[in-house]
Amino acid sequence: MTKKILILPGDGIGPEIVAEARKVLDKVNAQYDLGLCFEEDLLGGAAIDQHGVPLADSTLDKARAADAILMGSVGGPKWDKLDRAIRPEKGLLKLRSSLQLFANLRPAILYPQLADASSLKPEVVAGLDILIVRELTGGIYFGEPRGIRTLENGEREGFNTYKYSESEIERIGRNAFEMAMKRNKRLVSVDKANVLEATVLWREVMDRLAPDYPEVTLSHMYVDNAAMQLVRAPKQFDVMVTGNMFGDILSDAAAMLTGSIGMLPSASLDKNGRGLYEPCHGSAPDIAGQGIANPLATILSASMMLRYTLNQPAVADAIELAVSKVLDQGLRTADIMSAGMVQVSTAAMGDAVVAAL
Ligand code: NAD
Ligand code: IPM
Ligand code: MN
Repeated sequence: MTKKILILPGDGIGPEIVAEARKVLDKVNAQYDLGLCFEEDLLGGAAIDQHGVPLADSTLDKARAADAILMGSVGGPKWDKLDRAIRPEKGLLKLRSSLQLFANLRPAILYPQLADASSLKPEVVAGLDILIVRELTGGIYFGEPRGIRTLENGEREGFNTYKYSESEIERIGRNAFEMAMKRNKRLVSVDKANVLEATVLWREVMDRLAPDYPEVTLSHMYVDNAAMQLVRAPKQFDVMVTGNMFGDILSDAAAMLTGSIGMLPSASLDKNGRGLYEPCHGSAPDIAGQGIANPLATILSASMMLRYTLNQPAVADAIELAVSKVLDQGLRTADIMSAGMVQVSTAAMGDAVVAAL
């Protein structure tokens, strides 16, 4: 049976890193006879240039029809001055929300070979394996009302709404508890319940779910402390669950523990496990076009696609092992380079992973 994969390279380094993940998918597709067929389309700035909107209806239709989606990254200075409603990032947000991809899994795993690449001491990060479960279709990213309005005194005011319904909290909470069940059974829910009512309710719902998962130890932490604990003693964490904006921020911080944001993959899943797979980083306009971006986060996102949506855990394992072998060979892109290693380009890194398969 064929499986349709929609590929959305996006902007900046997006096309460069997605090309490498595609090489890896082509390789395993042939090697394991997976029956994957690929279609490519535009998202973000590239779609604005072509269609005037960051996500064309035809692209959204293809996304709905696909078994899984692989995305690069969107955005860049070229489109930053556009009206808010049609900026590249809106395309991605619309895709996530239209497909109800509410569960964003962001695993921060330190490959032991990269202990020197982390900005923290090797002993602080050795053995790190954290899963951040970020709510992706609610919270302050989508809350209404929102906007910029002019006040009576002529001054303008920007405003957003931070809200979560019980059912939104419950579905991401159950997802996180279930993830914790498959791991070390420790779940930290991150909130700001000392200040924000939306997260008072968040905490209450998490507590209400806990008895359904008696093997999981649930604890709560304020987001400011969580940010500090992530760089102080990150190995205390197993699974972290949090809202959309806190998860965005904490996952970038967690990325650095693994050596580089170029190492952090993600899966964004709906209730049936259908998903969009993308690296956690952005379009990196500062290095786009230079062939130096790290493609491993995108390659590892493709591996998550095989694990979570395509039900091919052995193939996902093979890709992760190939990445590990390449790191054993001493190959490094610039962002994870350290003394005594061999610096390689984006394409050479992708080729090396394919060869290791
Ligand atoms: P960014 O993640 O693009 O870049 C931050 C820093 O990390 C830069 O120095 C960049 O060079 C580096 N970096 C990122 N990915 C890398 C990789 N694979 N290899 C090596 N280095 C890498 O964040 P930013 O600069 O804040 O945002 C740039 C643009 O990307 C903005 O338009 C933003 O909205 C967009 N963005 C998109 C996504 C997404 O598509 N999911 C995520 C984050 C940011
Ligand atoms: C991410 C990005 C996006 C987010 C932006 C580009 C909308 O930062 O995927 O982490 O904030 O979710
Ligand atoms: Mn982000």
